[in-house]
Amino acid sequence: MKIALGSDHGGFNLKEEIKKWLEEKGYSYEDYGTFCTDSCDYPDFALTVAQAVASGVCAQGILVCGTGIGVSIVANKVPGIRAALCHDSFSARASREHNDANILTLGERVIGRGLALEIVEVWLGASFCGGRHQLRIDKIAALENKA
Ligand code: RB5
Repeated sequence: MKIALGSDHGGFNLKEEIKKWLEEKGYSYEDYGTFCTDSCDYPDFALTVAQAVASGVCAQGILVCGTGIGVSIVANKVPGIRAALCHDSFSARASREHNDANILTLGERVIGRGLALEIVEVWLGASFCGGRHQLRIDKIAALENKA
């Protein structure tokens, strides 16, 4: 299944680098924009990507803005989304293994291309461990149902 990609202007260049990397590695993706560096609003793109993942149209998502923070805040408003802002490989792996994160968020203005692509590789390659971690994910889902 596809990986949903999105960014604002602050994350556009890194999103393009991630696209190139995904193509090289044989991953399929859907690019939900933005498509240039003109100033735009990160909530629009983060919401579209989060909805694509929550609805099952895409299996996972990667969102980029200047810091990774704005897109993370927005994506986590969508029920079923567990977006993780990761700027190191350890957190990227743990966000999949422990938190079953279904969206990775990155900040183009925070880390360089090399580290960002390593994080993407680790995140896509890691799997949810289940077990005791599933119980915790179930508690998150229960919170969403109460809210
Ligand atoms: C845009 O200037 C910037 O605020 C945005 O990319 C992001 O960092 C927000 O969290």
